[in-house]
Amino acid sequence: MPTPQDVLAPLTDSALFLTLTVHPGHESTVHDFLPDLGDLVKSVGFPHPGEDLHCVLGISSDAWDRLLSGPRPRSLHPFREIAGDRHRAPATAGDLFLHLRSTNPYPCFELARRVVTTLGDAVEVADEVVGFRYFDRRDLLGFVDGTANPTGGDAASAALIGDEDPAFSGGSYLIVQKYLHDLDAWTAKPVEERECSVGRRMLENLEIPDDEKAPDSHVTLTTITDPDGTERDIVRDNMPFGSLARGEYGTYFAGYAADPSVTERMLTRMFVGEPPGTTDRLLEVSTAVTGGLFFVPSADLLDDPPPLPTATDEPTGDGTLGIGGLKDR
Ligand code: HEM
Repeated sequence: MPTPQDVLAPLTDSALFLTLTVHPGHESTVHDFLPDLGDLVKSVGFPHPGEDLHCVLGISSDAWDRLLSGPRPRSLHPFREIAGDRHRAPATAGDLFLHLRSTNPYPCFELARRVVTTLGDAVEVADEVVGFRYFDRRDLLGFVDGTANPTGGDAASAALIGDEDPAFSGGSYLIVQKYLHDLDAWTAKPVEERECSVGRRMLENLEIPDDEKAPDSHVTLTTITDPDGTERDIVRDNMPFGSLARGEYGTYFAGYAADPSVTERMLTRMFVGEPPGTTDRLLEVSTAVTGGLFFVPSADLLDDPPPLPTATDEPTGDGTLGIGGLKDR
């Protein structure tokens, strides 16, 4: 398998989630930059080995067609808004996504600054969220977040594309959403009710047994199985963030999957409900304000990307080759 980007990097104490849009006409600047990213990460990270700096770059479906010719990753499509009767997961603008992780905020900031400076007028920052590790790896709702994440080989098979799409093996699909919490409404609920909403005990961080768990708890709705009973996982790297000045208290959701339909099934169960109407109780106090789906190429593909599309390349957006799509390969 080609070398993946740092998708499976361990949970760190600091993160920066950066969403960029690419100005039309500046695609070649961004294309030329892709193979340079690895060196930029080294130049910021190498002098600070204790900082454990990791960078992952993702490309949206529309940006893929503008930046790269040839075959597309099989399951790449724009983030699809989910609108249930009560809750909505919006799709928002974003061509490139950078997920930066480190022990302290400063290497993430420095790397993001160098990326944005290098790309200059070619890009605009659509969204920037600085995530921090909170007490005991808890989110701002007070629950330890990330416990049930797969580890080791299970994490690799949940998050990384294998033989099912050979041209893109070592890649991953990243779905991100920014959630804002109504902490006053949340903390007004008795602790037991909060535990029922999540599906875990708050202090002990133990899962509530299945026969006692509410059908609309977060854990119930995000635990999904295939018809043959196989449980399907994703690799989550959520981070709390906040701003006192803006009165914002949130969770930045970042989920990596080898198949984005796994994350999308979880989202549909949360926002529409399973059965329909049984929506995730966390959404009563959490509002999704952004949403994006990005393909994370392997590090090898990023180092040697397909050429820019030419005028004869016809992006199809459906995973098939456009006329002329093979010409440049
Ligand atoms: C589990 C928080 C959004 C997927 C959990 C847990 C917490 C949590 C506290 C239990 C501990 C753990 O295993 O990590 C949140 C918060 C969110 C959020 C605060 C945003 C408001 C999402 C979204 C998805 C998701 C959008 C998927 C689309 C999962 C999965 C689990 C989980 C798969 C593990 C379920 C299991 O036990 O197998 N989340 N989450 N979460 N969450 Fe979330």
